[in-house]
Amino acid sequence: MREYLEIEGGYPLKGEIPISGAKNAVLPALAATLLAPGTYRFTNWPRLLDLYTMLELLSHLGARIESRGPVLEVDTVSAEGVEAPYELVRRMRASILVLGPLTARFGRARVALPGGCPIGKRPVDFHLRGLERLGARIEIRHGYILARAEDGLSGAEIVFDVPSVTATENLLMAATLARGKTEIRNAAREPEVVFLGEMLRAMGARIEGLGTDHLVIYGRSELEPPREPLRIIPDRIEAGTYLMLPGITGGEITLAGVEPAHLETPILRLKEAGLEIEAEGDRLYARARRPLSPLKIVTAPYPGFPTDLQAQIMVLLTQAEGLSLITESLFEERFHHVFELRRMGAEIELDERTAIVRGPVRLQGAEVEANDLRASACLVLAALGAEGVSRIYGLEHLDRGYEKIEAKLSALGAKIVRKSYEGHQAFGPCGAGPRD
Ligand code: EPZ
Repeated sequence: MREYLEIEGGYPLKGEIPISGAKNAVLPALAATLLAPGTYRFTNWPRLLDLYTMLELLSHLGARIESRGPVLEVDTVSAEGVEAPYELVRRMRASILVLGPLTARFGRARVALPGGCPIGKRPVDFHLRGLERLGARIEIRHGYILARAEDGLSGAEIVFDVPSVTATENLLMAATLARGKTEIRNAAREPEVVFLGEMLRAMGARIEGLGTDHLVIYGRSELEPPREPLRIIPDRIEAGTYLMLPGITGGEITLAGVEPAHLETPILRLKEAGLEIEAEGDRLYARARRPLSPLKIVTAPYPGFPTDLQAQIMVLLTQAEGLSLITESLFEERFHHVFELRRMGAEIELDERTAIVRGPVRLQGAEVEANDLRASACLVLAALGAEGVSRIYGLEHLDRGYEKIEAKLSALGAKIVRKSYEGHQAFGPCGAGPRD
């Protein structure tokens, strides 16, 4: 049964929207439970497809999963498996995050090699080279990564060409069980990396430099589960997505349960565009002054402007007066949403890695589909600001990263309903390939 969202746009939104725990923080945290046998507890965990895929992988490896009310409990005492099958990896590339922990803990791992995806090639060479630097032998056979380190891993110096979030997380986890000292230079500094580092410290790991691009890890022979339950940090990308709403639909909203410090750059840029944003503890209040001003945006690793908010700010800038430029520096294919936004009346030209957005335009409702999680979110924003009714297909992507999206938006006065239909498998512009 295929589902779609039916949205009638044009209504100013008003009210409070709760922000969920971060998808990109809970995924590495769950992989880290493989580093030491025992029971791990998490709170503020998001009910998202990607999280359930990771839980399916952990149980495939022998872990026992239990959700007791707000607490997600993972018991890895009998997690002895070392294989992440293609069926699971094709659904979620972040499955590769078990490669480092399995190799470090069991001395071997067999993980399906993630394929390409709608936003780009997404190579994993940094992950594999880094594990080799730590002493693992890596082979690629029949579409699988085979990692071996029978005598365990040994600390080493690792340098990334560009900061990679999951490669930093994979090697940070592996290094906690490697003999001696490991240094990771040009490491990713995302809040989700810091959250993982803090979890590993709570497991007994010795890590210096968290939040900087130079991590130093002194390996231990073994770790143990944190004594206290871990609260997953708020999802800064979900928050950043909704923060743009007043600039697109008008009205005023309050985000609850956010960490404003994780959104400093997006907040600064949205204020430049004309949004009035105030932070108060874990709440963010936003409304928009019209007309909006155009911006020049270049995506960059944290603390730069996040690539995961690129599609969303593109929708906002269709409402700005004049020409905006958006350059996507991280992923070579992350402009598929442009073609769908054009079908809604947006005036966007592409020049290599830069989108030129002319505004303001009155977006029109249409039937649209995206096959990337953030592109799907941008189509929801566009539909909310458009004149008339839109139907958004490809919800399997949206549900990977946005918990209860129609409930959260309806509470703000949005006219949004999830419907289902029989019918053909509608694919996005690049077909039904694996997902990012
Ligand atoms: C993480 O992906 C996020 N996913 C992505 O979020 C996010 O877009 C991305 O970081 C950038 O912030 C998770 O955290 C689960 P990268 P990741 O490795 O780690 C190149 C979402 O919507 N690279 O930081 O895969 C790569 O091609 C998702 O939630 C290599 O060349 O991204 C890219 O140009 C989408 N070789 C750059 O590094 C490697 O081995 C940054 O990618 C690894 C990466």
